[in-house]
Amino acid sequence: MSSDTTNDSLFARGQAVIPGGVNSPVRAFRNVGGTPYFVARGEGAYVWDVEGRRFIDYVQSYGASILGHAHPRVVEAIHHAAHLGTTFGAPTEGEVVLAELIVERIPGLEQVRLVSSGTEATMSAIRLARGATGRSKLVKFDGNYHGHSDALLAAGGSGLAEAGLAASSGVTAGAVADTVVAPYNVVPNLADDVAVVIVEPVAANTGLIAPAAGFLEGLRAECDRVGALLLFDEVITGFRIDLGGATAWSDVRPDMWCFGKVIGGGLPVGAFGASREIMSHLAPLGSVYQAGTLSGNPLATAAGRAVLAELDIDAYEELTAIATTLAGGLRAAFDDAGISVQVPQVGPLVGLFFGDHLPVDHAEAQASVALGGYPGFFHGMLERGIALAPGAYEVMFPSLAHGKDDLRRTIEAAAEVAAAMAPTS
Ligand SMILES: Cc1ncc(COP(=O)(O)O)c(C=O)c1O
Repeated sequence: MSSDTTNDSLFARGQAVIPGGVNSPVRAFRNVGGTPYFVARGEGAYVWDVEGRRFIDYVQSYGASILGHAHPRVVEAIHHAAHLGTTFGAPTEGEVVLAELIVERIPGLEQVRLVSSGTEATMSAIRLARGATGRSKLVKFDGNYHGHSDALLAAGGSGLAEAGLAASSGVTAGAVADTVVAPYNVVPNLADDVAVVIVEPVAANTGLIAPAAGFLEGLRAECDRVGALLLFDEVITGFRIDLGGATAWSDVRPDMWCFGKVIGGGLPVGAFGASREIMSHLAPLGSVYQAGTLSGNPLATAAGRAVLAELDIDAYEELTAIATTLAGGLRAAFDDAGISVQVPQVGPLVGLFFGDHLPVDHAEAQASVALGGYPGFFHGMLERGIALAPGAYEVMFPSLAHGKDDLRRTIEAAAEVAAAMAPTS
């Protein structure tokens, strides 16, 4: 790379050959304005951009890097695996071990199939649920994100939408005709043609919204009443909010699960799973087809195993303590400036909503975002060396690498930015 490489020059070059200059839309900074920083490298809590600026990073690949960037044990595991060959198209011991590690931590989970992304996991799990039940309808919740497969890119209004509206051009009305969209945190009345209810057990793609008391239990009971399967999309919460993910945290047992992010240690991985009985419908045992050239990839499974080896009960306590310090500091910073915000925290996850009301669903989150506070806060933090996600609907992902100094500097920066944002009387 030449020494005159800048974020602006790379963004211009990128836009010539990649739509919007990015390979995933939120990275383009459209929601906050400005030019994205191009990362040159990351280590622990930090990323450095191509201009040599260092940021304390709360994006952490949207939750994929729970140990921080380039953790030595993860790097070593990937090196070691790469020397042995990167992909074979035949099974390896490493994928069996990763599947064992996943299954033993999640209460009720018996089998998983490994795939290469969260999107692939949810898409395949929905097909499996339909194949296993012989039913077609799928229920999702407004504002929950489950990747970008057609059936899950359905939008809802403020109430229960019997047939989802396509949430993207290119998604046909037919693709979402069997998708019912319901408001989060209200148990819907299910019809008896529902195959599966997919839910983020803690919503983390519409800001951070915890499940209301009784919501997950209510879903469990309603699914049981009509014989539908309950699917927890734990792509964010899995192996992050607790040793046993949201399943252990909530003590509600779904029938199916999806995972991603943490279990790939920063490499492309996803997984979906269920009981042996449900999973027996999958090819080669059953008639639901699903496959993948790179599924169970040796590098990705090596990275995942190395990460899970670091994540014991103490690690989750530490991570939650880090998040508690961050959330408390942010609250105090805005309080001192006289600005109303809500800083929800669920274990190691931290959210930020402007306004004096804590949103409980997507419509309320949208109302908070419409207040317009986030872009100014984001840029103020970025100027002070703190990288938050460039979108108000994302959450913060403190990692185990975020030390006391990093947290102190983050909170000091937040206090300065909040003071600058405060209305002058
Ligand atoms: C809850 C949830 N499910 C599924 C996905 C899709 O995962 P991926 O981006 O790996 O396809 C995401 C991505 O952020 C997610 O947050």
